[in-house]
Amino acid sequence: MTGLDLEFVRGNFPALGRGQVFLDNAGGSQVARQTADRLAEYLFTANVQLGASYAASAQAGAMVQRGREALATLLNAARPEEVVMGATSTQLFDQLARALVQTWAPGDEVIVTNFDHEAHIGPWRKLEAQGIVIREWRLPAGSHDPDLEDLQALLSERTRLVAVTHASNIFGTIMPIRRIADRVHAAGALLSVDGVAFAPHRAVDVQALGADFYGFSVYKTYGPHFAALYGRYAQLLAAGNINHSFFPGDNVPQKMEPGNASYELAYSCIGIVDYLEALARAHGANVAGREAVEAAFRLISAHEETLARRLLDYLSARPDVTIIGSPSADAALRVPTISFTIEGTSSREVVEAVDPTGIGIRFGDFYSRRLIEDLGLADRDGVIRVSAVHYNTVGEIDRLIARLEEIRSMEAAQ
Ligand SMILES: Cc1ncc(COP(=O)(O)O)c(C=O)c1O
Repeated sequence: MTGLDLEFVRGNFPALGRGQVFLDNAGGSQVARQTADRLAEYLFTANVQLGASYAASAQAGAMVQRGREALATLLNAARPEEVVMGATSTQLFDQLARALVQTWAPGDEVIVTNFDHEAHIGPWRKLEAQGIVIREWRLPAGSHDPDLEDLQALLSERTRLVAVTHASNIFGTIMPIRRIADRVHAAGALLSVDGVAFAPHRAVDVQALGADFYGFSVYKTYGPHFAALYGRYAQLLAAGNINHSFFPGDNVPQKMEPGNASYELAYSCIGIVDYLEALARAHGANVAGREAVEAAFRLISAHEETLARRLLDYLSARPDVTIIGSPSADAALRVPTISFTIEGTSSREVVEAVDPTGIGIRFGDFYSRRLIEDLGLADRDGVIRVSAVHYNTVGEIDRLIARLEEIRSMEAAQ
């Protein structure tokens, strides 16, 4: 038993009533009702262009600002101007790279990993064309845990930035970002963190983490298709301008938001905080804002550990299964994004045999292509990935396990 009231939780996600089991949440979550309500509210009451002197435009501008404030609350940013908004995390990391390179010189270095999603590798690697030297922090052979000493050996006085994921979207492992930040800062460099696979599961605290930049996707965190990038204020101020050339350099964060972000989607982000506040209140915590975010994610984390344990215990007991990542369900170590392979079958075969049961899981490299290639899994259709979030139930995991057992019996009978 866990303390999470699943009837309450699921009642806030109208899409869950349709019979489909959603276990591909790392690809995109369902939306909390509150985010859709906020979206509709904006469109019906404030759908005008911002920046004009008439009252409706000023009101719309204030609403978009409240959306930015909600994202700052979710990230624990020191001020809302530290939040850059955009369409997707991929685009925001690309924008960040284009803004920062303007302040760097040929021969400056950036460290990327071989275990990040390509969205947080490609934008930095592209800077090679401008003379930036790319170094790669690789996982030790046979290990799922990066070695900080390997990072240390790559840091130099020319290192300008290190780009690393907070949680791997394949392993589900949580990286020791604070310890990484301390080393990166000691070397005089900046740290960019991809929080996309982490943010749906735990409260993000950019200040405690020591991240200079931190991106996440709203559409994987219970809102519609949108994304946010935190940037430490001083670093955004120092970054180049990628907006219109006549924008002043101190126009933070607009100089990083060419063409503006979607206003209605920005406003919808308030709904994520609304939902987390409602969740905290429904469990007896009479708190609001950041405190509610933290209280809600404590509840979420405990339930997710139960889900992860159920599946990992099953997978660990099967001799023909290789878990790609840690077999531990400990919520301090991992999120419930669980990847594995099954001996003698390709990942595609297994997932396609699960599909007809109405359980949505997925196979592939999930754009962590370098990692899947380095693990030697590219020619097996990558991994089978089951990615739960807090609205999933133990019953759903059991349904999946039952189907995996059926597939196993069918294979054995062949
Ligand atoms: C870990 C990780 N980083 C980045 C991304 C890219 O996010 P977006 O779709 O918002 O560009 C994804 C998407 O799957 C992801 O899983």
